[in-house]
Amino acid sequence: MAKILMVCLGNICRSPLAEGILKSKLKSEVFFVDSAGTGAWHAGELPDKRSIAVAKKYGIDLTTQRARQFCLDDFSAFDYIYVMDKTNYVSVCKLAPSSEYIDKVELILNESNPGENLEVPDPYYGGDNGFNNVYNMLNDACEKIKIKLENA
Ligand code: 4NP
Repeated sequence: MAKILMVCLGNICRSPLAEGILKSKLKSEVFFVDSAGTGAWHAGELPDKRSIAVAKKYGIDLTTQRARQFCLDDFSAFDYIYVMDKTNYVSVCKLAPSSEYIDKVELILNESNPGENLEVPDPYYGGDNGFNNVYNMLNDACEKIKIKLENA
C-alpha cells in the first residue's frame, strides 16, 4: 500500500485539506493518506473551521482529523511526503536521518506546476477567500498526484 503524508506548519489549515482532497480521489484499500504539521502548537485539535467549511462545500468531511506533529518515524512510514511551502521543506529536511529520505520530500505544487517551486500560501491570517484559493490549488495538485500514483 502506497502511503502519502501531507505536511504544513500547524496541520490545521492546508495539510488537512490536502489530506481530505487526496483521500476523496483515491481508494482507501490501496492508498493511505495522512497529514502532519512541522509545529506542535495545534496538536490534538480539529482542522480550522474555515478549512472544514470549504471542504464541506465539495462534500469532503475533515472533522475526523486531529492535528499532530511531523516526527522522525514519518520518514520511514511514508513513501511520499508533500510539503506546502519552502519553510516546511527546510523544516522537514533538517530532520531527515540521511539524504535518501530527502528524496521523498516534494513541494506539492510541483505536481501541478512542475519545476516552478510554487508555494501554497498560508491562509491562517486571511479571510475565507484564501481558503477557497488554497482548496483550488490543492485540488489541481491532488488530481495530478492521483494520476501519478495510479500509474506508478
Ligand atoms: P497551516 O496554517 O500551516 O496551513 O495549518 C497555520 C495554522 C496555524 C498557525 C500558522 C499556520 N499558527 O501560527 O498557529
